[in-house]
Amino acid sequence: MTTEGISQSRLPVSLADYERLAADVLDANAWAYLAGGAGDEITVRWNREGYDRLALLPRVLREYSGDEHTRVSLLGRTWDHPIFVAPIAYQRLFHPDGENAMTVAAAAQRAGMVLSMQSSTAMEHLPADADTCKWFQIYLLPDKDDTITLVRRAEAFGFEALVVTVDAPINGLRDRERRAGFTLPPGVVAAHLTALRPPASRQVSDNDSIIFQHLMPSAPTWRDITWLKSQTRLPILIKGILSPDDAERAIDVGADAIVVSNHGGRTLDTLPATIEVLPMVSKQVAGRVPVLIDGGIRRGTDVLKALALGAAAVMVGRPIVFALAVAGARGASHALRLLRDEFEVAMALTGCRTISDIQMPQTTARPISRARF
Ligand code: FNR
Repeated sequence: MTTEGISQSRLPVSLADYERLAADVLDANAWAYLAGGAGDEITVRWNREGYDRLALLPRVLREYSGDEHTRVSLLGRTWDHPIFVAPIAYQRLFHPDGENAMTVAAAAQRAGMVLSMQSSTAMEHLPADADTCKWFQIYLLPDKDDTITLVRRAEAFGFEALVVTVDAPINGLRDRERRAGFTLPPGVVAAHLTALRPPASRQVSDNDSIIFQHLMPSAPTWRDITWLKSQTRLPILIKGILSPDDAERAIDVGADAIVVSNHGGRTLDTLPATIEVLPMVSKQVAGRVPVLIDGGIRRGTDVLKALALGAAAVMVGRPIVFALAVAGARGASHALRLLRDEFEVAMALTGCRTISDIQMPQTTARPISRARF
């Protein structure tokens, strides 16, 4: 494959290769926004290290018939494999074709894609024939009418599920972005939000706590999820769960799936690695709803480990966007292909014929060191 921006001789062979190339291609502003995390970026590092600490157990000399596959059934659809593209805002910041190119790439690799509410391309402008971008991510907005306007639009467009992100009622303090003085360049906007009324500005005195007196009182609560459930027939995934108690609460209010996520380490630093809390959350959920995970997935072996520890599917964020930045749709498609290939190799060498074979303890996943948990 030749792709724009990369020569055949330098064709990336891993997602880490794309990250290195993206660092050269992107300007400092976009790079800080995409690569950075909250505070000292400890959670960003832990997300990755959590996978590195897990070892796989090979199984040898198993028979294969040719019927092996990576298919998963999730929320009413059968997907060719369990690798989804996570919702990432403002993708036109990273490549002029932004979400359009990402949608094409996801469709080419039969990867589910979650479109961000803060997409820089409106859903109606996405390629019409791309049938794997089926989930729409929303934040619950302070004005319920605005939320409903967006939900109705997503329903009319044909989205099949809503991914409600609950872990960022206020912005994390992302030092790297603040140091870079990050701003959105002209022309890159949250396309779904421009038509909504701007929130009324309130008088804030010097003595006010902005967070506790102004922002948190209007932040969404579990009651709002119950309300949203009553307003739509679309299944709802709750994204941003780390605590087993919150997973239980999510099921109580009718969540159809849970996404174990710390927002890629972008909200509160030193939250635990998602792969480390996954077993606790899966145990609590006990199969009542599917559990997905994101954060730090960079290898096909990571996908296998996540599934072995209870995930039904995974979402991958930054790496696919790095590849988008380097080579547009072809890059993002190639990155997804690399991940799929690595995942299949990992399945084959751990003796897994289908996704249901991927289980603890047959497949994996022993911590190499119990240093931290
Ligand atoms: C995000 N993420 C995110 N999540 C969400 O629900 N809505 C959004 O609009 C965004 N926007 C966004 C922008 C950027 C630049 C990043 C890096 C992340 C979080 C995202 O969906 C996902 O949880 C993480 O990216 C997963 O971690 P990795 O794969 O990036 O390590």
